[in-house]
Amino acid sequence: MAFISSGYNPKKPMENRITDIGPRKYDEFYPPVIAKNKGKWLYHEILEPGILVHVGESGDKVYTIRVGGCRFMSVTHLREINEIADKYCDGYLRFTTRNNIEFMTDKEENVKPMKEDLLSRKFAGGSYKFPIGGTGAGVTNIVHTQGWIHCHTPATDASGTVKATMDVLFDQFTDMKLPAKLRVSMACCLNMCGAVHCSDIAILGYHRKPPMIDHEYIDKMCEIPLAIAACPTAAIKPTKIEIEGKELKTVSVKEEKCMFCGNCYTMCPSMPLADDVGDGIVLMAGGKISNRRDAPKFSKVVVAFIPNEQPRWPTMTATIKRMIEAYSKDANKYERLGQWAERIGWERFFEKCELEFTHHLIDDFRDPAYYTWRQTTNFKF
Ligand code: HEM
Ligand code: SF4
Ligand code: SF4
Repeated sequence: MAFISSGYNPKKPMENRITDIGPRKYDEFYPPVIAKNKGKWLYHEILEPGILVHVGESGDKVYTIRVGGCRFMSVTHLREINEIADKYCDGYLRFTTRNNIEFMTDKEENVKPMKEDLLSRKFAGGSYKFPIGGTGAGVTNIVHTQGWIHCHTPATDASGTVKATMDVLFDQFTDMKLPAKLRVSMACCLNMCGAVHCSDIAILGYHRKPPMIDHEYIDKMCEIPLAIAACPTAAIKPTKIEIEGKELKTVSVKEEKCMFCGNCYTMCPSMPLADDVGDGIVLMAGGKISNRRDAPKFSKVVVAFIPNEQPRWPTMTATIKRMIEAYSKDANKYERLGQWAERIGWERFFEKCELEFTHHLIDDFRDPAYYTWRQTTNFKF
């Protein structure tokens, strides 16, 4: 396309420049019923999966329909969301903290036609555009990251693994039959952008090979001390090397100390480590953020490695399904997955979920590892 100026003048970049204006204020976008009843809500009910009603002190009601969003969406799709909001919600809508979309209306008569309309909309491939659900004790949207769509440090893909997993867990999105809500998150490297460290089930991209070192360019591309300081196990040290008679400054990696975190590559473009067969997925389980009944928990590694099997990751999705089925069958009402695992004991968790326990799962990182071992004779055979 030919160049079309927005009015910005590259010869005078600071002229007419607007800066530090921040986001639009949230209350500019309140539906009138929300603005009127703000801070004065009495109670709410979940009418059916994906549909809530909030009742204010004034007696006003607002109905909310929550629909799944794929997070990564086109402007065409956003326009369709706007069109629906214009049709039923006077042009108002919101996105949730798990990237679902909520359509709100104070008109009860709009709920049924909106629901039918939303469920009638499908992509050419057959997938629902706006599946209704994500409320109560079920599986809601998967918080996820960039993957192979945009990041340079991933060990797996985000959008692909998430679509494959949500397809397998779709019945739990549109229903509320689990003991408690179940949060699934994914991150494509162990920077853990998002919520993998605090979710009921977490999908995490993992490398299994140390970085390659581009000795020829490393001193030109990288601030070498930063790469050295990036390593959590001190596997990297500065080194000199001779290539074609020239002495070059570089690093060496002690491979038996490297655990493939990829942190050095984040600091230094000359230390790439992504690998076709080496990379894959770790599954973690048992984290939560809320304070309900007991304190928040980190998720724990329960499957050390599952290969990347794009485009549908069948081993990974089957393992997740098995864990959720065992939890669903065995846990008490209101018990989150981590609370269940701790009550029955992790040795029972592995048994019930039919997961293999390998030495990879035993913590070996510094002093705190000791506290994860068992210093009691209390265990089950
Ligand atoms: C030829 C001279 C220098 C070079 C090539 C150089 C290069 C760099 C580089 C590559 C970084 C890392 C930036 C990053 O994190 O992405 C950095 C950071 C920094 N440099 Fe220098 N530097 C030079 C001189 C200096 C001097 C003279 C000072 C102070 C008087 C200084 C202060 C800093 C500080 C404070 C940071 C950290 C900035 C931050 O918080 O990110 N540098 N420098
Ligand atoms: S989790 Fe890692 S690979 Fe994924 S988006 Fe974040 S930094 Fe990039
Ligand atoms: S991948 Fe991680 S552990 Fe290995 S050398 Fe780089 S920073 Fe150290």
